[in-house]
Amino acid sequence: MSDFSKTILITGGAGFIGSHVVRLFVNKYPGYRIVNLDALTYAGNLENLVDVQSAPNYIFEKGDITDEARMQQLFDLYGFDGVIHLAAESHVDRSILDPLQFVRTNVLGTVNLLNVARKSWNGKFAGKRFYHVSTDEVYGSLGETGFFTEQTAYDPRSPYSASKASSDHFVMAYFHTYHLPVVMSNCSNNYGSHHFPEKLIPLMINNIKNKKPLPVYGKGENVRDWLWVNDHARAIDVIYHQGKDGEKYNVGGFNEWKNIDLVHLLCTIMDKKLNRQPGESASLITYVTDRPGHDLRYAIDATRLNRELGWTPSLQFEEGLEKTVDWYLANEEWINHVTSGDYKKYYEALYDQR
Ligand code: NAD
Ligand code: DAU
Repeated sequence: MSDFSKTILITGGAGFIGSHVVRLFVNKYPGYRIVNLDALTYAGNLENLVDVQSAPNYIFEKGDITDEARMQQLFDLYGFDGVIHLAAESHVDRSILDPLQFVRTNVLGTVNLLNVARKSWNGKFAGKRFYHVSTDEVYGSLGETGFFTEQTAYDPRSPYSASKASSDHFVMAYFHTYHLPVVMSNCSNNYGSHHFPEKLIPLMINNIKNKKPLPVYGKGENVRDWLWVNDHARAIDVIYHQGKDGEKYNVGGFNEWKNIDLVHLLCTIMDKKLNRQPGESASLITYVTDRPGHDLRYAIDATRLNRELGWTPSLQFEEGLEKTVDWYLANEEWINHVTSGDYKKYYEALYDQR
């Protein structure tokens, strides 16, 4: 018997969003034992969690979600009451280079976890919950108008989004077939601290700082709906505790930006912070070959989450972006660690051919 009221498994807790979710749960719920399970791929970094690593209610376990024996061992050891599943391969460009890795982790890994949870809970589902964290990309691409709602049909178009869509379908299948108590959310693009610099915002911040070309895909007219990562973590908290079994909730910032406008805004913010001439950073913008199958626009309708569970984003984008830039400028060591080694090879392979 443990002294904790609940033990929750968070997968992918050493990644970008996962580390914010772990931090929120460890600090907000001292009565919960939080077990962070992560394979520490290129995207997983325990430096993201130095501030909570010694907390009495926090445990890190290294492991791969596709490893059935290891997952079973952890369920047996800790007797999890809940799972918050974030572990995934998460970058669209990498999925175009190596789709099978996305099938392995996102599809097989998720089904493996569902199986182990189902077997371990063995029909005794009271107080149990399996929360699957998904993405708005499963809905496909919008034209100039309209929003993704929870009723929008799935239409994934990249290997990444196809793998996430597949995992979402398995999650719902386990609810309908085995009555596994699942809940799911589909969120728009996150930004904030600890974001791996293969993604648009941290990549641009890093390149602006180092006066490197700013590679904008196509004409830069694609639109994304940006949400501060801490607001996503708050949404996950609310949905984990108050969401209904078998339901999904859209999470988004009602905050659409064309990529090129966003890059210009970042340049303006960073010119000021780095005491550069206005326009100096923007002169680094370089249009490069478009991403194949590049989704034009994502925009989430998060009305349901607001109406039913009272969640609303807490931060204005411009303020969040400044905070994010400040974090990257103050954490040079973090960025140097994650961009050394394999990152260089990935960057050259992807961007030299564009
Ligand atoms: P990330 O790539 O930063 O982190 C993923 C984490 O999963 C890493 O710590 C990695 O080590 C771990 N991982 C990968 N494969 C694993 C495996 N086989 N076993 C155990 N751990 C493994 O990703 P992120 O951006 O933090 O995204 C987290 C989740 O949220 C993903 O499921 C993603 O699809 C979803 N999501 C992301 C966004 C976004 O904007 N980043 C938006 C909506 C949903
Ligand atoms: O919408 C949620 C999704 O957001 C998550 O599910 C994914 O895990 C996450 O990676 C993100 O996917 P995107 O493809 O939207 O994010 P990314 O940061 O890779 O790209 C954002 C936009 O910027 C997209 O239109 C492509 C463009 N882009 C990206 C990079 C890396 C560029 O123009 N240049 C770049 O160098």
